[in-house]
Amino acid sequence: MCGIVGYVGPKNAVPVLLEGLARLEYRGYDSAGVAVLNGRGVEARKLAGRVQGLRELLGRSPVHGRCGIGHTRWATHGAPNDRNAHPHLDCTGTLALVHNGIIENADVLRARLAQQGHRFATETDTETLAHLIEDSAGATLEERVIAALGHVEGTYGVAVIAETEPGKIVVARRGSPVLLGVGDGEYLVASDASAVLAHTRSVVYLNDGDVAVVTPAGYRVLDRDAHEQDRAVDDIEWDLEALALGGYAHFMLKEICEQSETVRSTLRGRLLFTEGTARLNGLNLTSAQCARIRRIVVLACGTSWHAGLVGRHVIEELAGIPVSVEYASEFRYRRQLRVPGTLTIAISQSGETADTLEALRAAKAAGSTVLGLVNVVGSTIAREADGGVYLHAGPEIGVASTKAFTSQLVALVLLGLYLGRQRGLPVEQGRHLVEQLAGLPDLVARTLELEREVAQLAERYADATNALYLGRGVNFPVALEGALKLKEISYIHAEGYPAAEMKHGPIALIDANMPVVFLAPKDEVYTKVVSNMQEVRARGGRIIAVTSEGNGDLRHLVDHQLCVPASAPLLSPLLTVIPLQLLAYHIAVRRGCDVDRPRNLAKSVTVE
Ligand code: F6R
Repeated sequence: MCGIVGYVGPKNAVPVLLEGLARLEYRGYDSAGVAVLNGRGVEARKLAGRVQGLRELLGRSPVHGRCGIGHTRWATHGAPNDRNAHPHLDCTGTLALVHNGIIENADVLRARLAQQGHRFATETDTETLAHLIEDSAGATLEERVIAALGHVEGTYGVAVIAETEPGKIVVARRGSPVLLGVGDGEYLVASDASAVLAHTRSVVYLNDGDVAVVTPAGYRVLDRDAHEQDRAVDDIEWDLEALALGGYAHFMLKEICEQSETVRSTLRGRLLFTEGTARLNGLNLTSAQCARIRRIVVLACGTSWHAGLVGRHVIEELAGIPVSVEYASEFRYRRQLRVPGTLTIAISQSGETADTLEALRAAKAAGSTVLGLVNVVGSTIAREADGGVYLHAGPEIGVASTKAFTSQLVALVLLGLYLGRQRGLPVEQGRHLVEQLAGLPDLVARTLELEREVAQLAERYADATNALYLGRGVNFPVALEGALKLKEISYIHAEGYPAAEMKHGPIALIDANMPVVFLAPKDEVYTKVVSNMQEVRARGGRIIAVTSEGNGDLRHLVDHQLCVPASAPLLSPLLTVIPLQLLAYHIAVRRGCDVDRPRNLAKSVTVE
């Protein structure tokens, strides 16, 4: 949620930190700050607001130093104001730290430290850690950090500098990602690879429980007992270009428009035309294990949870395995039942969502094999799962998830196909689906041609205060996703419902001011959905229908008809969701909303 960056090397750290913070800003943007060591002690600059404000502050009041840390914040404890912005200092002002995560016993620690005479300058949980380190014994900064973290309950990714050890950054992680960027005579630390990519492609992903010490001479990774650990150096597989707007007004629009390519990328090398199945080498499941699966539990949050609901239809249809889809945040606190033959699938774009990660750990502890459907390579969920499928959609910067969703759907279809073929799906059916999957990128490209039409529609509906999204079967989750997209970036209240459920309550809301978006592609429930449209029409509601080619003309019944290309019914969510993403985007832009930085939200929710 927040972003951490740090630099140590021959250059002035400040421009490196500012550049890193700008790249991390999509993760949290309440406030920003830096602290550097320059032989005159710790110098910090911080303020509420965006990284651009910090840049201007540093222009007016510059600091220099070859070792520094920086942070962008998404507030949890304490309002987003100048004081509560990170870095936080100890009483002596000689030690500074930045922190992602939540220190759950901060109140207890704070009371004890205050009683011992520590003076607190902020309302944050993070500041307690600065005072704890100040109080901790140890010959080195890392020893003091390890000792202090021993008192902390909760989650952290943390970076610490101290005047007593110039040229050293100590980082630690538990439940919040931290990586090291390995350069030539210079090293970076960050919560996200995007912050180091301008300087190096070589990264070391830290494991939970790791502490690392970084100096211009190199880095060491330690465990909680200060024993040195070996960690592999990985390559970042995408370029800076992927982090640039590339001529688009917003990352969200760029990512929507990229979907033909990202869908192709998720499919690349995975379609086996002759065998009529998918190649998913990362699953690490033997045929015998596939045969033993009795049920599948999907764990996810938000948009990824919606993808899971589509996945349920797909997997049940293709593989005949019962699937339940759980909110990760609820699942993790339920009694864990040991059901033999359970396969758990955690779906997460970031691979760092705290609720999904903890739910995965709970499922593992209850004996389940766990797969991850993850976009970010090297993320915690990807590393803790027994196997999985990478989405290969490239970095998703827009806070509202779009291209990751369609890639999740593709990965779920590939998984359903693979499991189906392992469990008796006829080869002819497999081959047919493989052909249809191969044609998907072109269908996505054709669907994106609807943008101009959708933009015109957005003009008509930009002033709506409520909206209803209705769909059935495999398109019900698309209704949920369309409603989520609209509410999170335009702040219009929107609900997604199964179309037939409308008459059990929400129908009371329908009047001439209520736009109702129907998902009605050609499938076995199409005529039922049309009946639901009649019910809305009869009550004066305004209807936008997303249909597919071959459905005929519905304009006698609906106010607007958006027609996506015809596809296999199971694949239709990949197309029907696109006009809904575009509609949310264009409505939000018309309302003057900050599409890539919607209020109160942040990319990658690493707190509970
Ligand atoms: C909505 C959105 C969120 C995420 C959710 C899970 O546009 O982005 O609902 O889908 O926070 O995130 P991941 O997939 O990273 O676990």
